[in-house]
Amino acid sequence: MDKKWWKESVVYQIYPRSFCDSNGDGIGDLNGITSKMDYLQELGIDVIWLSPVYQSPNADNGYDISDYQAIMEEFGTMEDYDRMLKSAHDHGIRIVMDLVVNHTSDEHEWFIESRKSKDNPKRDYYIWREGKDGHEPNNWGSCFSGSAWKYDEATDMYYLHMFAEKQPDLNWENPVVRDEVFKMMTWWCEKGIDGFRMDVISMISKAEGLPDGKKGEGELYGDYTPYVCNGPHVHEYLQEMNQKVLSRYDLLTVGECAGVTLEEAKKYANSQGTELNMVFQFEHMDLDAGETCKWTDRKVPLPALKEIMNKWQTGLEGCAWNSLYWCNHDQPRMLSRMGNDSDEYRELSAKMLATTLHMMQGTPYVYQGEELGMTNVPFRNMDDIRDIESINAFREMTEAGIFDEETMFRYICYKGRDNARTPVQWDDSENAGFTTGTPWIMVNPNYTKINAKEQVSRPDSVFNYYKKLIALRHTEDVIVYGTFELLMPDDENVFAYTRTLDGTRLFVACNYSQDTVSVEAPADFAGQKAELLISNYAEQGDTPAAVLRPYEAVVWKK
Ligand code: NOJ
Repeated sequence: MDKKWWKESVVYQIYPRSFCDSNGDGIGDLNGITSKMDYLQELGIDVIWLSPVYQSPNADNGYDISDYQAIMEEFGTMEDYDRMLKSAHDHGIRIVMDLVVNHTSDEHEWFIESRKSKDNPKRDYYIWREGKDGHEPNNWGSCFSGSAWKYDEATDMYYLHMFAEKQPDLNWENPVVRDEVFKMMTWWCEKGIDGFRMDVISMISKAEGLPDGKKGEGELYGDYTPYVCNGPHVHEYLQEMNQKVLSRYDLLTVGECAGVTLEEAKKYANSQGTELNMVFQFEHMDLDAGETCKWTDRKVPLPALKEIMNKWQTGLEGCAWNSLYWCNHDQPRMLSRMGNDSDEYRELSAKMLATTLHMMQGTPYVYQGEELGMTNVPFRNMDDIRDIESINAFREMTEAGIFDEETMFRYICYKGRDNARTPVQWDDSENAGFTTGTPWIMVNPNYTKINAKEQVSRPDSVFNYYKKLIALRHTEDVIVYGTFELLMPDDENVFAYTRTLDGTRLFVACNYSQDTVSVEAPADFAGQKAELLISNYAEQGDTPAAVLRPYEAVVWKK
């Protein structure tokens, strides 16, 4: 058992724009984060992952960076940043920065130079190609709709952008680019930060020749995945990054790895520590995707979810490390997706989902507001939507006649990223206490009943349940290091498993339905006295029951 602080930590993700506004401009900022440090300490988290705070024209809310060593004006100054970092450390909280280096903003000085001429010294910082018979160099679509190529008149060539037009992809094959990135990372490490969450890091190495992707009938673009995700040199580049930067500091590193398989994850997050500590995989998030894209309102079947979680829990055991998440700034609220956000079951199902995740092996990530039981948002129409992905997809899908407007809007309300991006609900005053100004995106109207002030003060709230789950991870080694065994794999309602470390065993059982259902405890728990570690129902006996009430979650220890 190789003990590490980042295996024993719980990470809390902050999306700064929506966290807390200190100066009344309607946009969250660094001083707002500093003002909530006591709150985060009370929750008990160990690490903050800070979504990008760098200078950016905000085509993609900071994931388009124009200067990696400057702070976005709307968020404050470098002095505000330093104060925030110090305050976090004073509260015993580490800071992990978002590292967005698959692409920059087109307003980054590197790209401004690069696009000037074919012989500019920075030309090869990006991926430029000639058109093919007056068309794009290949048939790849961008993740944010449209072609992945943008024609640039100045030199009569195209540049590659896997995301928005304003996010040109860096050319990682160029060693000068890699050195620039490593230099910038070192600068942040010297400042005293504690790690990096690496944006779409699995996409930095593109296949030789950039071949056309397979295009199914009715599809607008070819599938770039085999040529972009987990590309030919990605592990080489990460090993180089590890040698030149990461291994010189004591960091938490997590790679956002679109398209990662179990076999690839064993390389990225290998326990020898030659690349990263862990990856974010997407298989459990993709379960409710449609045939060709994420836009549907279909529900995840529980047996499929269990199969995938089981695969990752057992597949990485002893050779790599898992990250655990239900929510982030790119996903709708899990409570509305897999739980039940009605008044009757909201809190029970929020606690049940949290129990399922927080009792597994891996480093758990809590996304701002998840600890309050925040839900998806009743957007009224497309005017309420701010996210470039949703706005572009709405246009593309409706113009191509793939979905009508009403259907597409319904999908955006269910799956769109803005569900996670409305302001954190601090109290029941105007704008949920997020800002004294006009918020940049609507506040979820349910803030009058779902807010931090009420949650913190009520002992049986979702907040206080998360607090307990987090504290348990700090005291129970079996939660961090125990092995995982799935029970009842085919059951449609119950997610149950055991964790085992030496002589200590946990039995975790969660009911994903609003019915009372039966559950089979393993032989060493059935009918036997055990210690109740946590449950979302107040009344429990002293032995595991044979039934679970609606959305009930229990964790027994022996
Ligand atoms: C993944 C990030 O999480 C997402 O928010 C962003 O839009 C894309 N990468 C592009 O940077």
